[in-house]
Parts: sequence; C-alpha cells; structure tokens
Amino acid sequence: MDKLRAMITGIQGYVPEYRLTNKELEKLVETNDEWIVSRTGIKERRILKGEDQGSSVMGAEAVKGLLEKTGTDPLDVDLIICATVTPDMPFPATANIIADIVGAKKSYSFDIGAACSGFLYALQMGSQFIQTGTHKKVIIVGADKMSSIVNYQDRTTCILFGDGAGAVMLEPTTEDLGIMDAILRSDGSGAPYLHMKAGGSRRPATQQTLDANEHYAFQEGSTVFKFAVTNMADVSAEVMEKNNLTGDDIAWLVPHQANMRIINATANRMGIGPDKVMINIEKYGNTTAATLPLCLWDYESQLKKGDNLILAAFGGGFTWGSIFLKWGYDPK
Ligand SMILES: CC(C)(COP(=O)(O)OP(=O)(O)OC[C@H]1O[C@@H](n2cnc3c(N)ncnc32)[C@H](O)[C@@H]1OP(=O)(O)O)[C@@H](O)C(=O)NCCC(=O)NCCS
Repeated sequence: MDKLRAMITGIQGYVPEYRLTNKELEKLVETNDEWIVSRTGIKERRILKGEDQGSSVMGAEAVKGLLEKTGTDPLDVDLIICATVTPDMPFPATANIIADIVGAKKSYSFDIGAACSGFLYALQMGSQFIQTGTHKKVIIVGADKMSSIVNYQDRTTCILFGDGAGAVMLEPTTEDLGIMDAILRSDGSGAPYLHMKAGGSRRPATQQTLDANEHYAFQEGSTVFKFAVTNMADVSAEVMEKNNLTGDDIAWLVPHQANMRIINATANRMGIGPDKVMINIEKYGNTTAATLPLCLWDYESQLKKGDNLILAAFGGGFTWGSIFLKWGYDPK
C-alpha cells in the first residue's frame, strides 16, 4: 500500500480588528516606537476587545472560514486539536467549545499546551492521526488571546504579544507531499524563565496572587532570547540535514514570530535569504500558538504545490521544534 501522509489542504486565519500600536503603548509604559521596532520588529498587534470573549471566539472564526474555503461539511470533521496557552477556561477544552460553535458534532476535540511551539506539536500529532488511516479530516487550530495574560504595566512583556488564531485542514494523500518529517523537543528546566506563576494547581488564585501580579506572563527576556536563537536554529538545521536539504532547496522558512532578531539568526544559520522567510511580526506581534498558521495564511497566495517549507518554533516550557513539509496545492 502507498504511504499515507498528512497534507495541509486549506488554511485560514483570524485577527481581531483593534490595533494596539507602539504609539499607544508609549502612553501606557516607559517605551518608544524606535526601541520596540529595533529590538523586536513589532509595529502593532491586534487585541480582542469585549466582555466574555476568549480564544475560542477567534479559533471558531478561523475554523468557520476554513470549512467554507475548503467546502467541508462540519459533520465530516473527525478531530479538532487546539493549541493554546490562553484557553477560555481551565476546562472544558477550548477545542470542545470551537467544535460546538462550528457544528463539528461528530468530531472529538482536545487542547494541547506547548506555548509558542503549540501549533507545531499539534500539527505533528494531527499528522500522525491521518497517517494511521483512521482519520480523514483533522483540523489544527492555534489560538491565543495573549492580551488576557499580559501586564500592560510591564514594558518588557506588553510590547511583545498580540491576539489571533489560525487553522489548517489536514487530509490524507499518497502523493509525495505533506508533512515529511518533524523534530520536536522540550526541556522543563526552562520553566523559571517563561511562565505564569499562579492560577494553576500549584498556586491557585488568591487575593495574594492577584495583588502580586502572578496571573500575568512572566519572562526573563534575555535568557529566553539566547535559548530561542540556539535551539530554533539547531533543530531547523537538524531537520534539513536529516532530509538532505540545503538552503537552496527551501522555498520558505516559516518561523515563530517572537523577535525579528531571532528570525534573522535562524534564517542565517540555515543559509536562507530574507526573501524566503515568512514575516508578519510587524503587524501582529507574538500571537503564541497562532504565529505559524497566520504566516501561512498571509503568504498562501505565494505558495506553490511541491514547495519545501521548514516550520520552526521556540516557546515556554521550554518547547521547540521544526517540521519539514511539502506544500500541497497551487494558489486558487
Ligand atoms: C524581550 C526582548 C525584546 C528584550 O530585548 P533585549 O535586547 O534582550 O533587552 P534587555 O532585556 O536586555 O533589556 C535592555 C534594556 O532595555 C530596557 N527595556 C526593556 N523593555 C523595554 C521597552 N519596552 N522599552 C524601552 N526599554 C526597554 C531594559 O529595561 C534594559 O534596560 P537596562 O539596560 O537599563 O537594564 C528580548 O529579550 C526577546 O525578544 N526575548 C525573547 C522573546 C522570545 O523569544 N520568547 C519566546 C517565545 S514566547
């Protein structure tokens, strides 16, 4: 029997309308547009406003658009996996809520938490469900409302993050296309450098945790920066070597959008020129699990069937990884 692979057959993103610009952040914290742009590459980010609006709102919008675009009946979806660090609530899973909103009544669904590498992890997991032959349509969603865990009085983190979601459809193919290889890694000893201190089982919410601002994302930026540069570049180089690929063979590098300097360092290490790197950090900032699908969505019209793509991410955990895939379709 021909080898089954999982292929991305559609992509859709969703970003909220509200734009939080660097100029506006200058009014909230001691910072300036020049510092933010030169140190991170970010000019603005999108923020989801309104009461009772969680990550599921954005995830569901992306999935609805994906179903429409791919002409898929929601009842034909087998599985929805949502990668997020900002679930609507600790339980039920945000994927369950998304499935309900979009009418995927015959699917099952669950969340995974791997921070900024969440989409990569979920993509590899979904790919394996397809490869077994038991699942025909798997949707992978990356959705994060980072504004819900960002302290807008902390200039070292509030300038970095934004809200957004992206979703891809995975379907089986016997062509030499789709997800070809993946290397995923994690190292929990990185937890002290990037985490949320309270709100989990170790430190449940109390007045004290609230007063101490422990329900916000905490990051030791320069330490994370060093690990991100080394690990994202190493794992991407490893996946290329393993598959006998050089920079010339790669049509696109799709890197996690955390910092322009990390993106450039990764591309350099892989021998990939700037014209082959997907970048949208300037308009969305770091949307955590949504950065990779939002990049694919923005660049979809430039992707051709058979293009070699390297997806790479690094995030809290630490978690990191790289996926090599062959794009499955020409622009429609
Ligand atoms: C957060 C980050 C942009 C900070 O950039 P950096 O070059 O490392 O800057 P540093 O943290 O060393 O700070 C340099 C100075 O700028 C200051 N600074 C920090 N944020 C600032 C801001 N928004 N505006 C102005 N100055 C700022 C610092 O206080 C420090 O001042 P000091 O030298 O007087 O102490 C960068 O470390 C980063 O991108 N880290 C990794 C993010 C990441 O990849 N996360 C992983 C996945 S989520």
